[in-house]
Amino acid sequence: MEESKKQSLFVAQLKDTIEEKKKRIGRPVRYHITTMGCQMNARDSEKLSGILAEIGCEEIPTEDADILLFNTCTVRENANEKLYGHLGIVKHFKKLNPDMLIGICGCMMQEKDEVLRIQKKYRFVDLVFGTHNIWKFPELLYAVEAENQRVIDTAEERNGFRDHMPARRKIWFKSGVNIMYGCNNFCTYCIVPYVRGREQSRAAEDIVREVKALVEDGVKEVMLLGQNVNSYGKGLSNGETFASLLERVCAVEGLERVRFMTPHPKDLSDELIQVIKRNPKICRHIHLPLQSGSSKILQRMNRRYTKESYLSLVDKIHRELPEVGLTTDIIVGFPGETEEDFQDTLEVVSRAGYQAAFTFIYSKRSGTPAAEFEDQVPEDVVADRMQRLIALVQQFASKAADRDEGKVEPVLVEEVNPQRAGYVTGRLSNNLMVHFPGDESLIGQMVLVLLKESKGFYYMGERRD
Ligand code: 5AD
Ligand code: SF4
Repeated sequence: MEESKKQSLFVAQLKDTIEEKKKRIGRPVRYHITTMGCQMNARDSEKLSGILAEIGCEEIPTEDADILLFNTCTVRENANEKLYGHLGIVKHFKKLNPDMLIGICGCMMQEKDEVLRIQKKYRFVDLVFGTHNIWKFPELLYAVEAENQRVIDTAEERNGFRDHMPARRKIWFKSGVNIMYGCNNFCTYCIVPYVRGREQSRAAEDIVREVKALVEDGVKEVMLLGQNVNSYGKGLSNGETFASLLERVCAVEGLERVRFMTPHPKDLSDELIQVIKRNPKICRHIHLPLQSGSSKILQRMNRRYTKESYLSLVDKIHRELPEVGLTTDIIVGFPGETEEDFQDTLEVVSRAGYQAAFTFIYSKRSGTPAAEFEDQVPEDVVADRMQRLIALVQQFASKAADRDEGKVEPVLVEEVNPQRAGYVTGRLSNNLMVHFPGDESLIGQMVLVLLKESKGFYYMGERRD
């Protein structure tokens, strides 16, 4: 609490600093945040945006801003390369606008080597902070803006929550809500436990309070966010579980939809399935990362489930919640993956009934145990497997997506269709998109739509209310 007061003082001072800067440059101080990676980062960016808006800056859609932040991801190698690509471009923006402040934050800045590289080779970067001290953003920004310092401030461990930060949502009718931070699972390929730290759950009362405030502010759909939401409540003393938290969130009046991301197959409880069953507000979409269909590879990944236990969980979900749309993440080419292991993955894909799958080529992250494994799979073998996997996923996904053709379903309208004049695009409870005739006034509304025609991974529809 003390800390959040201190940060409020910096916010107050920054208002003056920005006001002066506006006068000096004779126009508004513009900011832009480029967000890479997952919904956690997207939510963090909304918090950074909240602070920047509060101190009097204006958001612009392009990177030629006065304050430019990169909220980075480091889960795969190409995520890192993406940042360096951007930096090469914005260096020139800074030459044209010497007042420009360039900052980098997010998961990549929790990696010492990357921070050192920025510090030494990217001298035009003014501000670096990590995920553990994002709550200190006002103080760090003040040091750069008002005191002209170059600030590199990262913390090894989380030492404060970011919950006090005012968020500025990109979309007014839906919002992410952090329910926990960090991850204790240590899947052997994954850098997240090292950059996001140990699991820590927020108090249920605080989460419910945040959801209520969001609903008062017009939000209809919330997504509860955590690296492993089934672990919610471990470490809290009051016996709260993810299932009980979901029920409390569903009880918030005026809230129409609840989503969550991401559950871990090793501990998706029966209690959770029953809670979903009883609560129509919980969206019929479960993202259940498979990673591999081979029990041998799963063990080497430290996933703590097998092909068989995963498939029986999927059967249970389809049996108890037949309307659920199931999606997944799959990694191809994990060290030691043989053709036989890969066949196991294909088999799970053909049996699980996924409506969509995100497929990733295994990326060696230094610092993770798997990076030390000796039997890395050759690139050409991985590329071939990837092609075969994508073809199979597409074949099965369109089957899963077809099944609601002809039904009338509630849809939350998200945007005017950018490709087809006179159409809007909305999201079904199961997370599929539907395009139908409508106009801007429908954005943020829940409407009933007839799913006239399935197009494989989306629908064309028509309003029915
Ligand atoms: N290589 C490839 N994919 C990875 N993921 C996480 N770490 C790696 C890695 N080292 C994928 C997993 C996870 C998703 C968010 O990113 O599939 O579920
Ligand atoms: Fe990474 Fe595994 Fe934790 Fe997900 S559960 S963040 S894949 S370590």
